[in-house]
Amino acid sequence: MKYSILFGPPGAGKGTQAASMVENYNLCHLSTGALLRSEIAAGTPLGLKAKSLIEAGNLVPDEVVEGMIASRFASAPAVAGFLLDGFPRTIAQAQALDAMLKERGEEVTAVVSIMIPDEMIAQRIAHRATIEGRADDAAPEIVQNRIDTYHQKTEPIIGYYSAAGKYHEIDGTGTIEEVAGRISALMNKF
Ligand code: AP5
Ligand code: MG
Repeated sequence: MKYSILFGPPGAGKGTQAASMVENYNLCHLSTGALLRSEIAAGTPLGLKAKSLIEAGNLVPDEVVEGMIASRFASAPAVAGFLLDGFPRTIAQAQALDAMLKERGEEVTAVVSIMIPDEMIAQRIAHRATIEGRADDAAPEIVQNRIDTYHQKTEPIIGYYSAAGKYHEIDGTGTIEEVAGRISALMNKF
């Protein structure tokens, strides 16, 4: 089973690119952001706990997302692997993922990192705000907090996976098709 991580700052295009990757490589897409938004929409206790954190652009506690991922791994769908989008997002989550996979006799296959500059993050999210109506896209201060949180808490995992020889970065600027081509060229190696 393959366990690929789609990494990148907010608005880099993870969700956009995941759609074709799951089809092309027969993967199960696990987006912790999307899972949390459906918990909020369903009004579950977990959703209620996560709502105010997400809407302020802060991370939810590590154990919440780790539990969500562990239960999806356990249900073992008939796929060639998993595509993790938005997880892990802290060093603690990366370590928890390694421990979860070790128990299954597995390991992270590769980290595919979509990189764009901060100015482009703000532009893409402002555009999406007019289309999708996500609460955490609604105000520039919330978007800035997500960008700051990314730099402080998430970016350090680049070093974690680089040290393990698993980190692969691609240029996330250009058209959706151009970025998809760069991702395919990389994915075909694993
Ligand atoms: P999450 O849903 O993961 O949000 P995010 O990381 O901020 O990323 P986005 O979904 O905003 O961006 P994306 O990279 O998917 O870009 P997209 O493809 O949509 O997380 C939300 C929140 O949940 C977090 O802030 C946190 O509170 C919580 N959370 C989630 N996971 C967590 C975890 N592990 N731990 C703790 N808390 C967690 O593209 C963006 C826009 O750009 C779209 O409009 C798209 O059409 C457009 N676009 C994409 N590619 C291109 C291109 N090449 N050219 C032009 N436009 C493009
Ligand atoms: Mg997304």
